[in-house]
Amino acid sequence: MSPLTIKQIPFDRGHPITGHLKEFINDRFTMQMRMMKKMGPIYSFNVGKYKVTYLSKPEYIRHILQENYKNYKKNVFYDELKIILGQGLVTSEGEFWRKQRKMIQPAFHHKQIEHFSQLMVLATKKMMTKWDESASQKTPINIDEDMKSLTMEIVAQCLFSHDTAAFAKAATNSVNVVLDWSKSRMESLVKSPQWLPTQSNREYNKAFNALKNIVMGIIQERREMLNRPDDLLTTMIEMTDEDSNEGMNDHQLFDEILTLFMAGHETTAHTLVWTWFLLSKNPHVRNKLSDEVDFIISNADVSLAQIGQLSYTKMVLQESMRYIPAVWGIGREALTDDMIDGFTIPKGATVGVSIYQMHHHPEYWENPEGFEPERFNPNNESKINKWVYMPFGGGPRACVGNAFAMMESQIILAMLSKRYTLNLRADIPIEFDPGITLRPKYEFFMDIKKRI
Ligand code: HEM
Repeated sequence: MSPLTIKQIPFDRGHPITGHLKEFINDRFTMQMRMMKKMGPIYSFNVGKYKVTYLSKPEYIRHILQENYKNYKKNVFYDELKIILGQGLVTSEGEFWRKQRKMIQPAFHHKQIEHFSQLMVLATKKMMTKWDESASQKTPINIDEDMKSLTMEIVAQCLFSHDTAAFAKAATNSVNVVLDWSKSRMESLVKSPQWLPTQSNREYNKAFNALKNIVMGIIQERREMLNRPDDLLTTMIEMTDEDSNEGMNDHQLFDEILTLFMAGHETTAHTLVWTWFLLSKNPHVRNKLSDEVDFIISNADVSLAQIGQLSYTKMVLQESMRYIPAVWGIGREALTDDMIDGFTIPKGATVGVSIYQMHHHPEYWENPEGFEPERFNPNNESKINKWVYMPFGGGPRACVGNAFAMMESQIILAMLSKRYTLNLRADIPIEFDPGITLRPKYEFFMDIKKRI
């Protein structure tokens, strides 16, 4: 990259007041593709009052996420999340984030999460009881609801083990209210202050306080326990900072627990929802997946050794995350002036990477609109640029739960594919409702048939 020539970033203002807000909400990926085609690998446009600069060259992305990552913090679009997640890993910054990440990361190393695989298997078996019933009664399933409740159960089990039933029951509704509130604030031009007693603020405050009471209760109970169970909460209560030798206080624990809970269930749930959707639309892939699980898994359980052999299952998930990434984009704000390939990124600039756009970029993928798990065949995998394919982000702030999510998704997909075939009720098109994660625009149901 040569900083000698100063180049102008192409800019499309759009409507004088709203910019491209409407299109950004309704059809952002078509808009991004069009802009990239017209303006090149770095372009700016307005979303409401914000000017956003998007990068779509791997070198540019590596620059902001890895090489010069210290010069970037999470941008204005994370402000609503900050209200909820406070100083948790997703929303904290600088030295504080670094210390927290260093403490928490070891809890997610491969060896550690292997321990969670049994909980994932058990929760999936519980879902099978429900699905057996739906299959015998020929009742279609609400896949979004089922995948969310399954991944919520798993993350809650891994966080607090035996305390989950009460938590899941009380938390589901509160979590939905909190997430909807933050999404609608992200999308509105004018945000009412949080203390204003509007109906949505009142509902949010009630739901958030309920969630806080539940989690704080669990933390306090756990601190007093003599024989603490082996789960993430105990690990986090007992971990200490290398330099200060201090552990986390209740407030910090609350932020981290809520962060792991929020970041760790909707993302995986939507990855699986879209995978079932894509499998139903691509029966030849589904057949191949069924062949693999039939060959490798002998009964309702799946062992760690078997997970390691489920190579096609993994390829299907990787391709599904390419085709429809549950986290569709990453946003940053420049802390000081920066230069990328001769383009000035001024202090305060809002910079974005559309993971979706990179995953469909015609320069980097052959047949990007084809659903082809074979592209992730281990022989081809080395050719895939990690700044083009990045469902879990990249650089020091990449997803801490990457290995956890992959293991969980493989277990769920393999166990449920062995036992059932799911078909979309109607041949609906892919339409998105991009909130914090990329959800389907309309609720859809699937017909379920037992295979064994
Ligand atoms: C398929 C499922 C998942 C996807 C697609 C996903 C995706 C991502 C992405 C793209 C980021 C980077 C965001 C950024 O740079 O701004 C991220 C960060 C994060 N994810 Fe995930 N994630 C998934 C599952 C999980 C799970 C299971 C957990 C925890 C149990 C988790 C916890 C986190 C945390 C704490 C961060 C913030 C890391 C930091 O900034 O240090 N995620 N995730």
